[in-house]
Amino acid sequence: MIDEALDALKQGKVILLYDFDNREKETDFAILSSAVTPETIRMFRKDGGGLICTAISGAAAQAFGLPFASDALRFAGDIVEKEGDVPYDRRNHSSFSLWVNHRNTYTGVTDRDRALTVTSIAEYVKNFENGITGKFADDFRTPGHMALLRAADDLLDQRRGQTELSVALAQMAGVTPAVTICEMMADNGLALDKEGAKAYAKEHGLVFIEGQEVLDEWERRRAAA
Ligand code: 5RP
Ligand code: ZN
Ligand code: CA
Repeated sequence: MIDEALDALKQGKVILLYDFDNREKETDFAILSSAVTPETIRMFRKDGGGLICTAISGAAAQAFGLPFASDALRFAGDIVEKEGDVPYDRRNHSSFSLWVNHRNTYTGVTDRDRALTVTSIAEYVKNFENGITGKFADDFRTPGHMALLRAADDLLDQRRGQTELSVALAQMAGVTPAVTICEMMADNGLALDKEGAKAYAKEHGLVFIEGQEVLDEWERRRAAA
């Protein structure tokens, strides 16, 4: 299944990415940020219903001056999350960075606006990978309607959320490490369970992959290197 997931991601298709039975137990839609269209945003908000976020590599975030939200908000005092606060991952803080809008958006929340913000972020990350670090503030402002997620520098060796799983998949697929994700929610108010997500994948002809399979491939490649 890992090969199908890497292929689908590379082709700009949506995949379903479950994390771990001992973590959130959630499935996120995931797609290369460069492939996002207004229709993708519509699908994510209507069929997913969670929070739409774009995960980028730690190196790109660092180069663009995008901190973790928990660092940026430190001045706010005790309300800011710290290690131990995230109940399913007590060793790490969340991966939230800043929330941004492209400067050419209007409200920033429409499908068109969010797609513009996301694809432009992908463009910045692609340029960064090619040695060109643009000035992020020229094209984006914060606060905005697209949550940026900053992957841990050592990816799955350090943290194992969909942030790192999706960026690791992009890295292993050899494509720009900017992936847009959104949790799949159920009509009962809870996260969609694994069986429900698998059923959705089957019905829509999409690849469903678990974090453990991504981690196995990550470790296999490292052992082979
Ligand atoms: C943002 C989240 C989601 O869980 C998303 O999957 C990224 O977080 P993580 O890397 O912790 O899984 O909290 O909506
Ligand atoms: Zn989460
Ligand atoms: Ca998650």
